[in-house]
Amino acid sequence: MREIFLKAGLDEEQAILISSHLVKANLRGVDSHGVSRVGIYTKRLEQGLVNKEFKPVHLKETPVSLLIDAGNCSGIPVAHYGMNAAVKKAKTVGIGVVGIQNSNHCGMLADYTRIAVDEDCIAISTTNAPSTMPPWGAKERFFGTNPISYGIPAGKEENIIFDMATSKVAKGKIILAEKRNQQIPLGWALSSDGAPTVDPAEALKGVVLPVGEHKGYGIAFLVECLSSLFTGAAYGPYIGDLYTNFNDKQNVGQFFLVMRADLFQEIELFKQRVDQMIQEIRRLPLMEGVEKIYLPGEIERDNELERREKGIPLGRETVEELVTLAKRYKVQESLIDQLV
Ligand SMILES: NC(=O)c1ccc[n+]([C@@H]2O[C@H](COP(=O)([O-])OP(=O)(O)OC[C@H]3O[C@@H](n4cnc5c(N)ncnc54)[C@H](O)[C@@H]3O)[C@@H](O)[C@H]2O)c1
Repeated sequence: MREIFLKAGLDEEQAILISSHLVKANLRGVDSHGVSRVGIYTKRLEQGLVNKEFKPVHLKETPVSLLIDAGNCSGIPVAHYGMNAAVKKAKTVGIGVVGIQNSNHCGMLADYTRIAVDEDCIAISTTNAPSTMPPWGAKERFFGTNPISYGIPAGKEENIIFDMATSKVAKGKIILAEKRNQQIPLGWALSSDGAPTVDPAEALKGVVLPVGEHKGYGIAFLVECLSSLFTGAAYGPYIGDLYTNFNDKQNVGQFFLVMRADLFQEIELFKQRVDQMIQEIRRLPLMEGVEKIYLPGEIERDNELERREKGIPLGRETVEELVTLAKRYKVQESLIDQLV
């Protein structure tokens, strides 16, 4: 992947950041945001819809906040840059708020949230996305799958990193189901005529439903305001679609809020209480048919432990796509051989 991105015109730092981000998503089991994205990312770079250069501009700055113009560069490097800037501010003044406009698809939010949590901070990350989900009650798309992630540092327990789309599922899961010729569960999406569907192709033409009906819609509204109205990026229907719009740039927005976890309580006391709450949750009696109570983010952490040991299982279609790209970009033969 690194070689593909280098050949597609990115510098070394961006190529490594994007490649490792995609691998980290696969490691966590978030396959919808893993290496299956190389094709679309390179296509948009190739067509000049994403700027190959990384030159973020600081538009407005205070001791606690920074607004960045990404200059239409790749979303993943600029989101890393933005989160690191938010952490730096939080470490200095207690809180760091960073907004990014003129950005692109930034993948799996957990990767950014984790940067802050590793620095003993509480963090909230959001990004908006191309219109695909109706406000609850409508049958026409308006909001994106607008994900939100939060992170809480723990003591002896593992840090909490939650990360969810506000749609019933991330659209990437429907795209992956289509690539794999699989049906999707009923209730995920409506077809273009507003009927429930199990066909991913129909779902992609129609709408993805909000999670928890009006509640998911309510959170998607907040994510939209923080990521776009607040930062100056485009919102909902005005965002260029990643997969179908090859005329316009995306103008996605990202938002990071980072708070030093010792703002109110001593850090050790705070972490001790997080640990205590986690342990109390684990000891609760199980609902019928349930084998384990998971903590937010625990499933992805378990996936990561397993996949770091056993490797990442990739679908045939993803491998084929990587091989085709690698050949097209004339990546070293020895690397391609490892894939085939
Ligand atoms: N960049 C973008 O435009 C964009 C858009 C949408 C989604 N995404 C990404 O897609 C990814 C997948 O989102 P998703 O909504 O499909 O995730 P998901 O539904 O698989 O999981 C959401 C969260 O719920 C937690 N969870 C799942 N089961 C649980 C259980 N039984 N108990 C406790 N917690 C549980 C998970 O740990 C995770 O933190 C995220 O990483 C998100 O950032 C990105």
